[in-house]
Amino acid sequence: MAERKADVQAHWTRPGVLARIDAALTELGQDPQILTPEILGTIEHLHSGGLATTREQAKRIALTKDSRVLDVGCGLGGPARYLAHTYGCRVDGIDLTPELIETGRVLTERCKLADRVALRVGNALELPYSRRPSCPAGSSSATTRPNGSATHSAT
Ligand SMILES: C[S@@+](CC[C@H](N)C(=O)[O-])C[C@H]1O[C@@H](n2cnc3c(N)ncnc32)[C@H](O)[C@@H]1O
Repeated sequence: MAERKADVQAHWTRPGVLARIDAALTELGQDPQILTPEILGTIEHLHSGGLATTREQAKRIALTKDSRVLDVGCGLGGPARYLAHTYGCRVDGIDLTPELIETGRVLTERCKLADRVALRVGNALELPYSRRPSCPAGSSSATTRPNGSATHSAT
């Protein structure tokens, strides 16, 4: 199991990814310190279809500002920031790869979304939650997975 975890981390770790994102944004004429999910849209959705797929999946789970989403395998947190920014919901993201989480936290701060998006290193096979996040009656929760698919439940 430890070897598999190391394999996943090695596959997804790109040393210097934040510097490369900053360089790409600068080249595009953006200030890397002042960001929005729209500005980051072309570079931070690490699945096929990119931002368009995130949008389509999000429409299927009827999120509101009272929703609480668990994004399992959140990568850089691009989908997590998109959901929080678009729907006003709270998103907890976990990912096995520390470099992606560290970079994602910086991008979250720069997007001023740290009050609604919390990213942490974690393993989908040993979720660091004793049970699913609690939701007040009338609210909803959703879970997204590393492949970009999503599930939704309402109370
Ligand atoms: C295709 S990327 C998708 C990232 C993100 N969901 C997105 O769409 O931008 C897959 C991610 O899943 C993570 N991952 C793979 N296995 C995992 C596991 N067992 N627990 C947590 N994260 C995992 C990888 O580290 C990688 O960041």
